[in-house]
Parts: sequence; C-alpha cells; structure tokens
Amino acid sequence: MGKDVIIACDFSSREAVLEFLDKFSGEARKPYVKIGMELFYGAGPEIVREIKRRGHQIFLDLKLCDIPNTVKKSMAVLRDLDVDMTNLHAFGTIEMMKAAIEGLTRPDGTRPLLIAVTQLTSTSEQRMRDELLIDRPLAEVVTHYAKNALAAGLDGVVCSPLESPTVHAHCGAGFVTVTPGVRFADGAVGDQVRVTTPARARELGSDYIVVGRPITAAEDPIGAYRRCCEEFIG
Ligand code: C5P
Repeated sequence: MGKDVIIACDFSSREAVLEFLDKFSGEARKPYVKIGMELFYGAGPEIVREIKRRGHQIFLDLKLCDIPNTVKKSMAVLRDLDVDMTNLHAFGTIEMMKAAIEGLTRPDGTRPLLIAVTQLTSTSEQRMRDELLIDRPLAEVVTHYAKNALAAGLDGVVCSPLESPTVHAHCGAGFVTVTPGVRFADGAVGDQVRVTTPARARELGSDYIVVGRPITAAEDPIGAYRRCCEEFIG
C-alpha cells in the first residue's frame, strides 16, 4: 500500500477548489484530493469528474450510514464516479458494510478502497456513555469497530495517527489507516485536539495522512504540500 498525503479540499464552491488546484498544475506529483460533504453538496457530482479528469486521485469522504440496501445502491453511484477511496460509518453494522462492498464493486471485480469511520474524533467518551449509552472505553470501541470493518471485508479505517499502531496490531499491517489531525511542529493547531506531525505519523505507521488547513490556508500551499510529502513519505 503506497503512503500518500491527501489534501482535504474543504471549499464550498467549484471555483474555489479549482483555483486552489490550479496552483499545483506544474507539480510532478499530482496531490491526492479529499472531497467532503461541503464541496460535494455545494458543487455536485460533476466536481468529482472534473478533478479526476485533471489527473488527481480522489478520496470521497461522504461517511454513508443507512439501511444496507440504500447504502449498496448509493455506493454503486459512487463507483460510477470512479473515485479511488470512499467511506462509511462502521456504526451501520457489518451487514451494511458488506452491502456497501457489493455496491462499490465494478463488474471486473475491482473497486475503490473502502474505509470506515469508527467513532468520530468529536465524540468524547462521556458523550458516548451519556448520549449513545455505550459504556466501554473509547479506545476499545474504536478497536472493536475496526475489527468489524475488517470482518466485513473493508480495507481500513479513518483514525488518529496515535491509534494507527493499535489498529495495525489488531487488524494487520495491511489494514489501511487514514489519519487526519496532522500539523507541522511549528504550525497552528486550530480546532484539532490530538495532533501529530507528518514525520510522527510516519513513525506511527499511518498509511495516508489527511491534511487540510496546514496546506489550504498556507501562504505557500505548494511549499507546505512538499514539506508534508518529504516528512511523511521521504
Ligand atoms: O484542516 P484540517 O487539517 O484540520 O482538516 C482535516 C480534515 O479531516 C477535515 O476535512 C476534517 O473534516 C477531516 N476529519 C477529521 N477528523 C476525523 C475525520 C475527518 O479532521 N476524525
């Protein structure tokens, strides 16, 4: 599994994201791009095709969670957008995750990478207990959901770089960890709480890092992207 830096393109319009990506037109390495709900709902599926045509790999971060049949049919739509990676909530159960794989698989048997969100990093252990009535420690829940994703045949999970070693220990080195919450040692943390540097994420065994504002809001986005690649990939 190739390590890569994925830029979280959290823009709300087609114009804003294309203006940002234009900056990278001279780069030898075309950045892997994450398209989230904001851009997808704002600009529609055509933005996925357009960025793909420009030669970028795409992680479509829509975090599906619904009854198995609905997820299966929705995944078939995403499959036809030819994305490289997409995701869902492990909370939707193993049956839902298996249905998602069915929907995502192309007639030739290939499919985009499918990864699971375990517990959102915005969910605290206290909220999980008080609101969701889940009494187990958060780390145990994350590991358990990762194992469910593995059992369903998924390729990996979204997690903190700090959780990568545990996930790999329980689910195998080939089970992919896609990790946001990355900041440069001398950069602003913003609203992220548990952050690591690209170099530390590499040491911890993350397979992909997802980096947004340290690149998108940088004065020199190309320089920031290159620095991420150097630290994380070498
Ligand atoms: O700007 P920043 O580097 O914080 O962006 C991180 C990206 O990763 C955002 O698109 C955010 O929604 C996403 N993400 C996250 N934490 C998660 C899951 C996704 O920060 N647990």
